[in-house]
Amino acid sequence: MQKKILEALKAGSGYVSGEQLSALLKISRSAVWKHIDQLREQGYDILAVPHLGYQLKSSPDKLLPGEVREGLKTRIIGREIVYRESVMSTMDEAFALAVNGAAEGTVVCADVQGRGRGRMGRVWSSPQGKGVYLSVILRPQMPPSQVARLTLLSAVAACEAVNRVSGVGAGIKWPNDLLVRGRKLAGILTELNAEFDRVRFVVIGIGINVHGGRGHLPAVATSLKQELKRDVSRVEVAREVLRSLEQWYTRALKSGFPVVFERWKELSVTIGRRVSLRGPEGIREGEAVGLDEDGGLLVRLDSGETVKKISGDVVLI
Ligand code: BTN
Repeated sequence: MQKKILEALKAGSGYVSGEQLSALLKISRSAVWKHIDQLREQGYDILAVPHLGYQLKSSPDKLLPGEVREGLKTRIIGREIVYRESVMSTMDEAFALAVNGAAEGTVVCADVQGRGRGRMGRVWSSPQGKGVYLSVILRPQMPPSQVARLTLLSAVAACEAVNRVSGVGAGIKWPNDLLVRGRKLAGILTELNAEFDRVRFVVIGIGINVHGGRGHLPAVATSLKQELKRDVSRVEVAREVLRSLEQWYTRALKSGFPVVFERWKELSVTIGRRVSLRGPEGIREGEAVGLDEDGGLLVRLDSGETVKKISGDVVLI
């Protein structure tokens, strides 16, 4: 109902009368009023003028389905968008929906996360209203061993989207951190539910620091606001990420992942750099020289040996 009211308010350039809305939605004028009130509670600034009706003055920069969906024009990603004001983690919400059969492309967005999580057990700082926090359910037909490819694909999609919307010039640090001037702007977490040889579903979690200032960000992080000294709309960033994810996902399903890896390399701030690897062999250094077919990082060690890093992190030297 609220979706329809919003559509009507956005379509009309001036006022839309209560009478028009009640006829359109086949509800009483007091029911219209109640819905308008609920929209206001969500942050919509709606003017009500006696004898004229309602006018939408501004929409909130929250990842509400009605906002993200506007002009989205995707077929798979975002066909269902779930918004929660506050969650522990959008990953948990998306997992629960996926277990209950949610369609591929379902997206869960939140305004704040109480326990946002990052890779390798880290915490993802998710203050209210400061970032894009979303998780996307995918149901790819691939063995679990290939899911890392989707992580790189998501990094490409998010990197292109953020750069397109803001012009910030982010690059990708292997496997999927978005960096600007060496500081972390965004991170991607891939979790899956699988049988031994078959993926049931994958949840891609994307966190992007948008409005956060120094006080809201970990020391090694940055935000779009911090970099650009202006506000960028979270809705626009999220919408572009979903669009871009759909483009890359459908392209990869159709033509394979080499095209994704080529683009990843172009956006990479890791390839060609000296890196340090931590592992059971201790700390080793070398040059990042490429990707293997599963998205592992190929590093030519100073000893001359080339090794493949498939999990964990690398440190840029
Ligand atoms: C990382 O860089 O370690 C990955 C960070 C992923 C953060 C996002 S925010 C939305 C989704 N929900 C979470 O709890 N984590 C991911």
